[in-house]
Amino acid sequence: MMSKARFIISKKKVIEQYKKVQDISDIVSYSYKTNYDVGKILEKETNCDFCVHSIESLNQLKYPKRCWFFAQAWNKKEIEILFKKGVSKFVVDNINDLNMLLENIQGNISLLLRMRLKEHTVHTGKHFVYGFYSEEINKLIPKLKQNKNIKELGIHFHRKTQNVSEWSLKEELEDSIKHFDKIDFVDIGGGLPAVYKNYRVGILQGIFSKIIELKKWLNSQNIKMIIEPGRFIAASPVILETNIVNIYKNNIVIDCSVFNAAMDTFVAHIRLKIKNEREKGEAFTIKGCTPDSMDIFRYRAYLDRPDIGDKLVFLNAGAYTYSSDFCNLQKLDVIIVN
Ligand SMILES: Cc1ncc(COP(=O)(O)O)c(C=O)c1O
Repeated sequence: MMSKARFIISKKKVIEQYKKVQDISDIVSYSYKTNYDVGKILEKETNCDFCVHSIESLNQLKYPKRCWFFAQAWNKKEIEILFKKGVSKFVVDNINDLNMLLENIQGNISLLLRMRLKEHTVHTGKHFVYGFYSEEINKLIPKLKQNKNIKELGIHFHRKTQNVSEWSLKEELEDSIKHFDKIDFVDIGGGLPAVYKNYRVGILQGIFSKIIELKKWLNSQNIKMIIEPGRFIAASPVILETNIVNIYKNNIVIDCSVFNAAMDTFVAHIRLKIKNEREKGEAFTIKGCTPDSMDIFRYRAYLDRPDIGDKLVFLNAGAYTYSSDFCNLQKLDVIIVN
């Protein structure tokens, strides 16, 4: 039987990645939307929390108590369902969603207010900047502190995925927030980078040092730090194993598409590394199986000339593996190995 392209997840590597962030944070809340299968491994093998963005996602997880639910234009009915399911941790980024929660609040909750940080490298238009302005946050905190249903209060922000440059968070927080004595958490979001062909490696140590410094500073004020990695945990434990179905000139066509296996190639502009690729030599374009001109995994990849029928394996391929049904493409199989 002809094999099909598939994702292969190493459970051991998922746990290794998790432990790296667990060591530098008080609470790890895995961003579940990055890769659901990785999330299910973490649910079983660790005690991490989860960032969850829909009731459908919540229904896939066994422990609603471990979930931080991110409000986005929610309504009374949705909030009632969440309370009924036992969710008690919420993140809100705008006043309407906050008021909707306050009007329908039940029991004791933990609440994070999302704050917008200055984004130096995000150009408006492509990216929406979420969150309250810091002045609004500074007014809301003392008021929310009076609410007897809110047992724990914190500030949340998230910069951008694959963030390699903007990690001076302590300075920005000091500039923005007045009420460190009234908050229990600072959630620094995700953004920790993974290794791709088009990103420099070796920056991680510097980022980790900045995060550790921030955690120390927060802990000295009795504030716990939460981190929400997605890509950092999910990318490297996963390979995308594909089969070469055609080679002509220096074009290699494989049996899946960026549209069902690596949307991140054009959404976040990342280029997956290929197993055994070289630094120079014969250059190949690796093309997906649809007729779309954007269906390119890699443009100039240096490889030993393969044969039709050989496997071509992409590394660190586990982040944002959501897919589209363009050209009736099917979702790829996922297998988990120890
Ligand atoms: C609020 C929030 N937290 C965490 C993440 C995870 O980001 P990353 O996968 O870059 O770690 C995202 C991703 O979009 C996010 O929006």
